[in-house]
Amino acid sequence: MADSVIAIDGPAASGKSTVAARLAGRLGIAYVNTGNMFRAVTLAARRAGITQAADCTAEKLIPVLERLDLDYERNAEGNFELRLNGTFPGEALRSPEVAALVSPVATVGPVREFLKRRQREMAGHGWLVMEGRDIGTVIFPHARYKFFVTASPLERARRRLAQEGENFSGATLEEVAKAIAERDRIDSTREIAPLKPAPDAVTVDTTGMSIEEVVDFIVGRMEHEA
Ligand code: CDP
Repeated sequence: MADSVIAIDGPAASGKSTVAARLAGRLGIAYVNTGNMFRAVTLAARRAGITQAADCTAEKLIPVLERLDLDYERNAEGNFELRLNGTFPGEALRSPEVAALVSPVATVGPVREFLKRRQREMAGHGWLVMEGRDIGTVIFPHARYKFFVTASPLERARRRLAQEGENFSGATLEEVAKAIAERDRIDSTREIAPLKPAPDAVTVDTTGMSIEEVVDFIVGRMEHEA
């Protein structure tokens, strides 16, 4: 049976979080950002003194997972808001330090297993937009709708540079593009659940499109498939 999930996957800074949140708002259904779950594990790892990619191993991260207090509060709109140690981590998840370490953390098997369980538990309470890298391929291979949202590397670098607080201060377009390319490289070449479109996903190249145009396109495709 098809899961009542709209899976939205895609590379870094493709605009998929904004699109996924708007889509969920327009459809009146819940939204889950799984990148924030990986970022929360990364923040907890950093707080435990793990700051280098070379230290992102199962051996070092399992104790972090064992102590991790990660839960969700469903807000008035029905969205899952992530809490780390009882508080909303907010901006801390989006810091450039967390961004630089999250892809290495996300290669580690026990981290992915831990979050896979959490992500699957979130389904079954009504329709859901879930956004990430492996939602249509691994987490919900039977999702009713699947989209792979992307954009050209230059456009993605421009979008990321425009997001305040996410870049090291004074970062240039070239540096941001390099950091994104490195995240994409790690995400697409890792052994477990690499970033790639599901064979049955609809790819949306959002280069030159506004958020509203992308949401309109997705809703149009869903109506077409219904
Ligand atoms: O916002 P941005 O597109 O930069 O990234 P994100 O969605 O917050 O995801 C951060 C990182 O978490 C990704 O680069 C992946 O390394 C990892 N991730 C993953 O492996 N699987 C997911 N389902 C979601 C994120």
